[in-house]
Amino acid sequence: MAADPPPPVRLVPFEPEQLLVVLPWFDHPEVQRHLGDRTWPEREMALRTGTPPFDEFRGRRVLRTHTFVAVDDDDRPVAQIGGDVYDRWTTWDPATGRVTATDLRRSMGAAYVVDPARWGRGYGRATIRALVDAPDTADVELFVLGIDPANTASLRAAAAAGFTPLTTEPDAEDMVHVQLPRRRTPGTSSPAGTLPA
Ligand SMILES: CC(C)(COP(=O)(O)OP(=O)(O)OC[C@H]1O[C@@H](n2cnc3c(N)ncnc32)[C@H](O)[C@@H]1OP(=O)(O)O)[C@@H](O)C(=O)NCCC(=O)NCCS
Repeated sequence: MAADPPPPVRLVPFEPEQLLVVLPWFDHPEVQRHLGDRTWPEREMALRTGTPPFDEFRGRRVLRTHTFVAVDDDDRPVAQIGGDVYDRWTTWDPATGRVTATDLRRSMGAAYVVDPARWGRGYGRATIRALVDAPDTADVELFVLGIDPANTASLRAAAAAGFTPLTTEPDAEDMVHVQLPRRRTPGTSSPAGTLPA
């Protein structure tokens, strides 16, 4: 059961020295099952320090990429989270390679991992929430997470962070999507910076 309230975490940019701490997390079979092996954080690090490999992904323009490490009160890394910011959100049909629906809100997709030694203490929820609340993502109007429907821990961590179902049927990649729209201030066109709890 996750702690309530969640433990405080702070997002910091993913730096090379933190890679050494994060890499062993990827030796856990459950992490490998959902994210892959040690090449995953290595690739995230390369993305942070280089140019994104795509300028377009599934009909969305990739505006930028973020990769953070969440640290606890003692500045120890407890999680990694990152993803792309897009100019829009699209629904994609891999069978035809076409966009089937477009949402013009600036969006962000994200993936995350918590240090396996700390699972079940609320760090997943706190880290997802920290991404949404980060000044670096203040322009994002819609956060979307693609999750394996069998990944109960990830679904529950996302739900605890305020995400609700966007799709309920697994797509062609066996993912369901959950969303968190950023609330707008009435009468303005920009996000208010407040989100549903
Ligand atoms: C998914 C993950 C990030 C969750 O991190 P966490 O710190 O354990 O999550 P939390 O402690 O914040 O728990 C959040 C909720 O999930 C539940 N939960 C945690 N682990 C669970 C498990 N193994 N089975 C079922 N529920 C679980 C908690 O009880 C809590 O539910 P509640 O808020 O209803 O009480 C972590 O399990 C992980 O790193 N998994 C491997 C990588 C991965 O799957 N990433 C996501 C890819 S989309």
